[in-house]
Parts: sequence; C-alpha cells; structure tokens
Amino acid sequence: MLILALESSCDETSAAVVEMAEGTRRILSNEISSQIEIHRPFGGVVPEIAGRAHIEAISSLTYAALEAAAVTMGDIDLVAVTNRPGLIGALLVGVNFAKSLAFAHNKPLVAVNHIKGHIAASYLAFEELEPPFLALCISGGHTSIINVKSYTEMETLGRTRDDAAGEAFDKAARVMGLDYPGGREMDRLAALGNKEALKFPKAAINDSLDFSFSGLKTAFLNYVNTQKMQGLPICREDAAASFTSAVIKAIIPKCSAALEKTGAKKLVLAGGVSANSHLRAAIVELCSLSGVTPYIPPLSLCGDNAAMIGAQGYYEFLAGKRADTSLNAYAAHGIED
Ligand code: KG4
Ligand code: ZN
Repeated sequence: MLILALESSCDETSAAVVEMAEGTRRILSNEISSQIEIHRPFGGVVPEIAGRAHIEAISSLTYAALEAAAVTMGDIDLVAVTNRPGLIGALLVGVNFAKSLAFAHNKPLVAVNHIKGHIAASYLAFEELEPPFLALCISGGHTSIINVKSYTEMETLGRTRDDAAGEAFDKAARVMGLDYPGGREMDRLAALGNKEALKFPKAAINDSLDFSFSGLKTAFLNYVNTQKMQGLPICREDAAASFTSAVIKAIIPKCSAALEKTGAKKLVLAGGVSANSHLRAAIVELCSLSGVTPYIPPLSLCGDNAAMIGAQGYYEFLAGKRADTSLNAYAAHGIED
C-alpha cells in the first residue's frame, strides 16, 4: 500500500509517503517543516501561531512529499493523519486537510494517535521488529512506559503525573538562557559536565511505574535562580549533566521494573527525547544487562514526522479502522482512543 501521511500535532508540519506491505516498510518521502524559528522569540510553542503556520505549510509540503516520492494522488491507497494528542488548533489543520484530500480523491482515511506513531517509527527503522514489546515513549508532551501487545493494542503501564521529561528539559534549558527547544543543547552541554556536581530529587513515584518530573524541574529552577540572585556563577555543563543524570535515574529503574513485570525481551525507545545521547547509552546498557534487545530509532525518526504516522496508519487500516468526514481532533493525552 502507498500511504500519504500528515502530521501537525505540535510545532512541525510534516507530509510523507510510505510503502507498507507484508515484509516491506519503506519511506519514499518524509518532508518536515519545522516552526522552531517562528516560536524561538517566545521561548516555547505559541499554539495559535502554530496552527497558522501549519495551515500555510501543509499544502505545499504535501505536494513536495508526493513529488519526492515520484507518485501522484492517484497512486495513493490510503490517507493517514494524526488526530490526537496535541495542540488542538494545530491538529485541526492536519485533520481537516486530510479529510478534504481523502474525500476529493475518494481514498480511505485513518486517524492515528501521535504516541502510537512515535512507536511505529521503529517499524520503519528495523525491518524485523514486531510486537509484543515494551516501549518507552518520551517527548515534549508525554513520558510513558507502554506495553505494546500488538500493532494496535497497547496498555500504558506508567506515565508522568505532571510534566513530561522533554518539557522539563526545555524549561531547565530556558532558565539557563539556552534557546528553545533546549533539549538538544542540554544534551551537548551534559557531555562536557560532571553529572555528580549537583544533587537533585528523584523524579519517580515509589511503588508504581509512574514518573513525576515537576519536583526535579522546580529544584533545578530554584538552584539556577538562587545562584543568579546571589551573584554566583552557574556551570551550565555541570548543571546540564546533573539534570540529565537525574532524569535518567528516574527512567531506567522504572523501565527495568516494567521489563521484569512483562517479561518483554524487546525495548523500543520513542519520542523526541529519544534523541538524547545519554539516554540512548543508558537504554543500551540496561538492555545488555537484562538480556533485552534495544530498538532505538535513528535521529531522523526521533522527532515529529509524518512517515511514522503512515507506518502506524497502515496497521490501523489492517485492523479495520476507518475515519470518515466526521473525524475530529482531540487534545487529550495518552494512547487510549
Ligand atoms: O516528540 P517531539 O518532537 O514532540 C512532541 O511530541 O512533544 O519531542 C520534542 C521534545 C522537546 O521537548 C525537545 O527539547 C526534546 O524532545 N528533545 C530532546 C533532545 N532532542 C529533542 N531532549 C533531550 N535531548 C535531546 N537530544
Ligand atoms: Zn511527538
């Protein structure tokens, strides 16, 4: 099947064409237009501006994706679109565009959950990967441990009770004066610092697989603000290394407990924060100690992109899911439909 996929849940507009069949999972094009420069002066995503930027980009990006794949709408078998979770005004742009396209060209349409899409990025990167497996999904908006029972049936075993890890990275970066989105710069600085330099509280809830990053975030903000008020220097490398280490110290034991609980032998890393080099290394180490195979997507598939939505859209279609012109968008978090 040739699938045209659209993604507009946050600050990246993306259109892709993927080819999916039994034994074939291929990206033919994956066009991404990032809004980072547009939101940078505000230090974070401004939802209304995001929606407006998506509406300006989505049409030309779709043409570009078809052209780069050397196909036309006539060749497309299915249209897939992210309809949840995300910024509502941003999601509505993709959903409405996809509905119009599917209706005008008389193609079937499927709605895709963005988090399931992040997990599906690994199907495109690893041809042998099949459920069941455990997925650790960490991005700007969500941090969850998910039991992936089949391509479409999933259960959340643990989630953040407040801030997502990516959000905490971005806020920590912002207070240190780093540009939005600060995750990548935190990663670079952390490599140069001493992770034992500063002690931060544990970002995990005891006796459950849930996380809580707001205490860690607040402790970090308090540290930086206190240093600033007292005119004391801040070693950004040490601060970034210690913060990153605290995030990883919260995530790894929960992941290990979830692997033990489910008996899973495969662990898939998903979401924007899976680009973090320190987290990637920690996951590889955990997996080698636990006899588990790690699946860590290439950096090009870690952030938001439409190819991953197309991959998941294929499995939703196979499972009999169909959307029609009444399809709506939902901001709510989670993988539950
Ligand atoms: O999945 P994503 O692109 O968007 C959402 O669905 O939320 O994730 C974006 C998040 C941002 O918070 C960004 O700072 C973070 O991923 N991020 C990183 C790195 N690269 C991106 N966080 C830590 N280290 C990185 N290398
Ligand atoms: Zn995402």
